[in-house]
Amino acid sequence: MRYLTFALTKGRLADKTLERLEKIGITCEEMKDKASRKLIFVNEEQKLKFFLAKGPDVPIYVEHGAADIGVSGKDIIMEENRAIYEVLDLGFGKCRMCICGFPEAKELLSHHEMIKVATKYPRIARDYFQNIKHQTVDIIKLNGSIELAPIVGLSDVICDIVETGSTLKENGLTVLEEVCPLSARMVVNQVSMRMEAERIRGIIEALRGVS
Ligand code: PRP
Repeated sequence: MRYLTFALTKGRLADKTLERLEKIGITCEEMKDKASRKLIFVNEEQKLKFFLAKGPDVPIYVEHGAADIGVSGKDIIMEENRAIYEVLDLGFGKCRMCICGFPEAKELLSHHEMIKVATKYPRIARDYFQNIKHQTVDIIKLNGSIELAPIVGLSDVICDIVETGSTLKENGLTVLEEVCPLSARMVVNQVSMRMEAERIRGIIEALRGVS
């Protein structure tokens, strides 16, 4: 039996994923040591390997087959648009991709005038404005603290993740439109899905049965 390798998203999503995997009997004791600087963890008995990666890198590892299975947010999966199979909605890490801004900016979304949109997700934003709203936009790619953009006049609106809504609220901003709901998804390498079909399908089915 060969090793099956999991790429997990560093941080809260990895913790939640490990909790879920533990419920179906997949464990990795080594990974629980938060002080460890190790990068790859092995469960010899179950012939499994695990590693942690930055969110946007998870679909890349999976597409190239460096990991058979990955868990990352739907936002990342859409933005990366890799040749991988999305096989399961894990139901945690729920939030929404939204167009946000000052309440006055709502009007800008009802015309087809050119507006500036700041975002960490240029593909998602472009797709939404081009294909759903048919509005021409100037996309400004940022790397974080997106809410700052309309406040300092860099953009008219933002396309960003809203979880509790408190970042928006504390800065006088609001949700203007919802693009789509988001949550953590399990993704699988296309070749692994064929070559290791039985083991991978077994994991998917078992995970479907727990929450
Ligand atoms: C995300 C997102 C929002 C915030 C939303 O940012 O980009 O800024 O969380 O959460 P809330 O609705 O619960 O306030 P993150 O903290 O990941 O950091 P970033 O600004 O560096 O992207």
